[in-house]
Amino acid sequence: FSRAKKNVKIKVKRAVIRHHRRSGTVLFSDTTLRDGEQMPGATLDPIEKLQIAKALEAAGVHSLDAGFPASSQADIEAIQSMVGVIKKPVLTALCRTLPGDIDAAELALAGNPPHKRGVSLFCGTSPLHRQFKLEKSKAEVLKLIVDSIQYAVEKFDIVAFSPEDASRTEPDFLCEVYREAIAAGATTIGFPDTVGILTPYKAQNFICQIQDQVPGIENVLLAVHFHNDLGLAVANTLACIEAGANVVQCTVNGIGERAGNAALEEVAMALYLHQDEFERPHHLNISQLEPLCQLVSNLTGISLSPMKPVGGCNIFATEAGIHQDGLLKNPDTYLPYRPETVGADGIKLVLGRHSGKKAILHRLHELGKEPNEKVLQRVLVAIKELPKGELVDDDLLLRLSD
Ligand code: KIV
Ligand code: ZN
Repeated sequence: FSRAKKNVKIKVKRAVIRHHRRSGTVLFSDTTLRDGEQMPGATLDPIEKLQIAKALEAAGVHSLDAGFPASSQADIEAIQSMVGVIKKPVLTALCRTLPGDIDAAELALAGNPPHKRGVSLFCGTSPLHRQFKLEKSKAEVLKLIVDSIQYAVEKFDIVAFSPEDASRTEPDFLCEVYREAIAAGATTIGFPDTVGILTPYKAQNFICQIQDQVPGIENVLLAVHFHNDLGLAVANTLACIEAGANVVQCTVNGIGERAGNAALEEVAMALYLHQDEFERPHHLNISQLEPLCQLVSNLTGISLSPMKPVGGCNIFATEAGIHQDGLLKNPDTYLPYRPETVGADGIKLVLGRHSGKKAILHRLHELGKEPNEKVLQRVLVAIKELPKGELVDDDLLLRLSD
C-alpha cells in the first residue's frame, strides 16, 4: 500500500512539474532571505524577514528560499513565523547534504502543506570543493548527494539539489551528478555559478549541455543561480532563460555574497520589456518592484546606488535640460518605462547647472508662479552660476524677487 501511495505521489509531482515546463513560465525563486541575508551587514531579524516575505508574496514570487535552519535558531524562528502566514509561495529551507540539516528544515517547516514546503540541498562538486573543502573523491561526493536526497524525499515532496560551484565542475561529472540526483528523487536541479565567473555564452552552453546529456531532465525543473562577480549575473540569468531554464534564483537589489546575486527586479524588468524576445510568461507583479526594493534596502540597511536599476533615486530623475524638455513633452522620450510601471513615485526634474528654461518654468508653475520672461532669464542665469548641486524650492522662490 505504501509503495502504491508513493507512486501516486511521484505521478502528482511529475504532473505539476510538466505543467510548469509546458507553460514555459519563468518561475522566480527568491533567495533574499537566505543568500541575500548572508551578505555582511545585511542580517535581518525574524520579524523583518517575515515583513519581506509578505512583500515577496505580494510581488508574486513562486518560491522563497527562506533560510538555513541548521545555521541558527533565528533562521528556524523566521521560517516558523512564515508557516501558515505565507500561503502562495513554496517555502524552502537550505540544507547541506546532511541528515541533521534536513531534520532541522523539517522542524522549521512543520505545518506547511506538503506542496508548499521543500528543501534545497547543496554540496560542492568542483575539484576545488572536493579536494580542499570536502576532502572527498568523486564517488564519495556522489554517495553523499544520493544518500541525502533519498533521506529528504522521505520527508519532503519538493527536493531541490544544487551542485555548489557547478560552473567550475567538470561538465561530465556535473551531468553525472544531475543524473544521480534525479534518479534519487530530486524534483529540481540547480545550476549555481557560485563565484560568478561565467559569461552569458558559457552559461547558455552549460544549460544546453545539461539538457542534452541528462536523461530525465524533462521530469524535473532546472533552476539557475548566478553571482555577480563580473557584473554579469542578470545577463547570465537571461541567457539561461533563453536556453530553457525553468526557475531563476534572484535576490532583491541583488544583495548577496561578495558582488551579490542576480537582481530579481532587473531580471523581471528585462523579461517584461522584451516579451517578444523571451516569449516566456512570469507571474511577478511588477508594480510592486520599486516598493519591494525600498523595503529590502531599509530593513537590511544596504543602501542603493543612485543609479541602481528600478530602485535607485536617480532612475526617474534628470538635471539635463534636453532630457527635461523631452520628458515634459512625453516621458517616453528619455525613459525605458514609466515610474508607475514599477510602483515608483514619478519623474523628478532636478534644477541644477545643466537645466534649461522649460524645467524652471514647469517647477515655478507647480509652485503657483507665473514669471515673466525677464524673471525667468534671471533665474536661469542664477542656476547656470550654481557652483554645485541643486536649486531647491526655497532658493528658487527667492530668486524671483532678486
Ligand atoms: O552560490 C551558491 O552556490 C549557493 C548554493 C548554496 C546554492 O548559494
Ligand atoms: Zn549563492
